[in-house]
Amino acid sequence: MADLDGLKPNKEFFTDVPQETEGFFLKGSNQLDWGMKNRLARIFNPKSGNTVMLAFDHGYFMGATTGLERIDQTINPLIPHADTLMLTRGVLRSMVPADTPKSIVLRVSGGPSILKELSNEGIAVDIEDAIRLNVCAMAVQVFIGGEYEKESILNMTKLVDLGNRYGIPVLAVTAVGKDMVRDAKYFRLATRICAELGAHYIKTYYVDEDFDTVTSCCPVPIVIAGGKKRPELDALKMARSAIDEGARGVDMGRNIFQSDSPIAMLEAVRAVVHEGASPEAAFELFNSKKG
Ligand code: R5P
Repeated sequence: MADLDGLKPNKEFFTDVPQETEGFFLKGSNQLDWGMKNRLARIFNPKSGNTVMLAFDHGYFMGATTGLERIDQTINPLIPHADTLMLTRGVLRSMVPADTPKSIVLRVSGGPSILKELSNEGIAVDIEDAIRLNVCAMAVQVFIGGEYEKESILNMTKLVDLGNRYGIPVLAVTAVGKDMVRDAKYFRLATRICAELGAHYIKTYYVDEDFDTVTSCCPVPIVIAGGKKRPELDALKMARSAIDEGARGVDMGRNIFQSDSPIAMLEAVRAVVHEGASPEAAFELFNSKKG
């Protein structure tokens, strides 16, 4: 029987205080459902509004990429220093400790290897498995201007439908063919198409000229990929410029795990992304933590 004796009487109804109706800190995301927002808030830090995603999904088409030969040895020590891990389900299940508190962005597109036409991807993970793995977002490659442009866009829209059904955001990854020009005009086109067709946030590359026009006309958050390994100071300068020009974070792989000191580099990138550090100050931090 319910214990009804000695119940405390109601005391304060705050009748003259309107209920708080908070907005959501990420652009274009305020009208999403609770589960979707909660997952996004586990990827993006609500305080800074930004994210440091550690990308190590390269093996899904490149095989054992330099720095990823033994993920248990090289990547697992980095996990505590990242906000989010971007990886495949194979690596997640085989290498990443299940007690990690980090949010997971699961690579769900795939198919061709570097030996074939890369744009010919399909959806390579069932939504049920993404749910089973408790992921915070699903990442799909979109090849605007590529041979299989339409198919890759439809992969994304299918995932958006599934993601909306279960409250899992979709990260559209804009992939650029080798012979295509990487400039603001191209990325404005690619990111806008992905956003219009429902992606919840978008990964793109940083470009030196007019990157702010890419972020400004994209209605949802943008994060940048790191791209090929470059000197640490250059990578930190790129991250600083991207954030200053409207990106909400980085999804960085090779510039972290191929650094001579990956933990120091990850900490330096965090200082830029979350604390507003200048590239020079972050580079000093990198040098002080190196080794
Ligand atoms: C491509 O392999 C993946 O989408 C990577 O996650 C992405 O390119 C980010 O990695 P990186 O910083 O090495 O370019």
